Order: sequence, then C-alpha cells, then structure tokens
Amino acid sequence: MSRSRKKNSREKSLSWATIAGVLLIMAAAALYLVPDLPERLDSLLDFARPEREEMVEEAPEVKEEAREPRPEEEISDPFEEREENDQEAPEDEDQVGDEAQAESAESAAVPGQESGDREDLKVISDGDYLLALVTKETTLKRNYVPTDLEAVPARLNPYYPMQLRSEALRHLEKLWEAARDDGVALSIRSAYRSYQTQKELFRDYVSRHGEAEANRFSARPGQSEHQLGTTVDFGGTGADFTAAFADTKQGRWLAANAHRYGFAKSYPAGKEHITGYIYEPWHYRYIGVERAGEWKASGLTLKEYLQQQPQQYE
Ligand code: DAL
Ligand code: ZN
Repeated sequence: MSRSRKKNSREKSLSWATIAGVLLIMAAAALYLVPDLPERLDSLLDFARPEREEMVEEAPEVKEEAREPRPEEEISDPFEEREENDQEAPEDEDQVGDEAQAESAESAAVPGQESGDREDLKVISDGDYLLALVTKETTLKRNYVPTDLEAVPARLNPYYPMQLRSEALRHLEKLWEAARDDGVALSIRSAYRSYQTQKELFRDYVSRHGEAEANRFSARPGQSEHQLGTTVDFGGTGADFTAAFADTKQGRWLAANAHRYGFAKSYPAGKEHITGYIYEPWHYRYIGVERAGEWKASGLTLKEYLQQQPQQYE
C-alpha cells in the first residue's frame, strides 16, 4: 500500500472515531438531562409492537419441588422408596376432636429422637398380629421383623426386590390378578421395610424437608406399617405417590375393590388430623378379608377401626 493511501485510511478511521465519540457524548448528555429517556423511547415504540401479551410466551407452570426423590434417582438402597405427594389433602371439618390426639404425639417427639427410644410411646408386643395399631402414638420394636416374609414375584411388577408376609402376599396375588382381569395394570412400588430402612428413609426426608414436614408423609422408624410386612404401595401410573393417583384407573379400582382381598387404605383424604399423615391413595395394608370388609362398612379410618380392636403392648 502506498504512503498516501495509508494516510487516507488513517484519516478515515480517525474521522469515524471522532463521530462515534461525539455521538457517545451526546447520548450521555441526553441521559443526564432526561434520566427516564430509555422508558420514554420504549413507550414511543409501543405502537410498532404487537400486544405485549402476545410476545410473552406463557410461563411454564412452576411445580413445587417434589417431596421425595424417585429411588432410582437418589436413593441407593433398593428397599427404599419415594412417596411423592405435593398436594394437600382437603380437611374434613367433622373430625376436629381428634386433632389433639394427633398433635399430642407430634409434640412429644423430640427432633431427631427415634421412636424406638421414646418412653411416651406404647410398644407393640406382637407385630405379627394383623390388627396391630401402628400410629404416631405407638412403636414397633427395633428388632421386630415379620416371621414369614416372602419375595414378591416378578410377575406382580415390583420396582425392585421386595418382600411381604405370606398371607398378605397370597391375597395381593389375587388382588393383582383380579385387577388385571378388569384391565387394570398394577405395579408394586414398596412393600416390607425394616426398621433400619425406615430410619434411613426418614432421615433422608428430614434432611430435605425438615422433621415436621417429613413426618406428615413419612413415618418415623418403628411407626411405619411397612415394617409389618403387610403393607403395599401400589403404582403403575404417571401419578404414582401423588394425590392424583386416586383418579387413575388403578387408584379407582383399588378404592373400590382392595377390601375384597383384605386390604384397607390407611391414609384417606381429609383425615390427617386423625391419622397424622396426608392423603396416600396408594398405601394399603392387609388386615384379612373379613376385617377389611368390616372396616370398609364402618366408614372409619383404619386407625379408628383398629383402635376398637384388642391391642397388646409391652
Ligand atoms: N408413608 C407412610 C406414612 C410410611 O412411611 O409408612
Ligand atoms: Zn406406604
């Protein structure tokens, strides 16, 4: 490039730099003199835009963080489960008298203290008793393990290797087949859980949700019906472990038929003040066919029904 052409292009760059500099100074001065200039310009341009609402894409519904992680996601112990339930069960007004009962058990619990160490709880002497009352006011012993646990067969769609007591399992098989014959495909999301498994599960929920909240949907060790080996969490839907399970084909079938096979729904809607737990339309406990029929006809919660049955404590 010749010397004069180089000079020319340097001069051009300089003059563009001067223009840019002057424009910048003018913009700064305008902003200084009229601080709300950007908003004014923005509103001036409004007429040229489509309606604001059209431009803003509908925000995706923000879902509350699920209360519990799926076992395959976060929990390594194959006997642990997730029980999601984001929805508050509606309160029933007619049972408020029982609130004190549920609350007294709550207040007696010292944070972090295990049920197995609490002296205010009645200790269930025989977990094999099908009608044993397992609530926030009672506890199974740490070392209580059902005597006749059997593996849940793969054909019943257990999510991982699970066990159930023999009699409960025989009836679960019948229930599962009857559901299948009615075109309802059930899966088993959880069955027997040892005291230790429940302890780890509960501790995990407490770490993520705080103790009081965790205890609304998960039992302390010693207080879970799952330790009895007669309790099943059903699933097989996109709404497993949520209140919406009640409105699935599976949830509706179970609500109408489970008692015929000896299973009672432990935690119905609107009864947290009695049972101590939110609505769990997936959680069923085997109590025997005759007893389940009686329970169903009574219209009581399972806790109230079992409170009327003889119990033995240590
Ligand atoms: N989710 C029920 C209350 C349990 O943990 O046994
Ligand atoms: Zn359950």
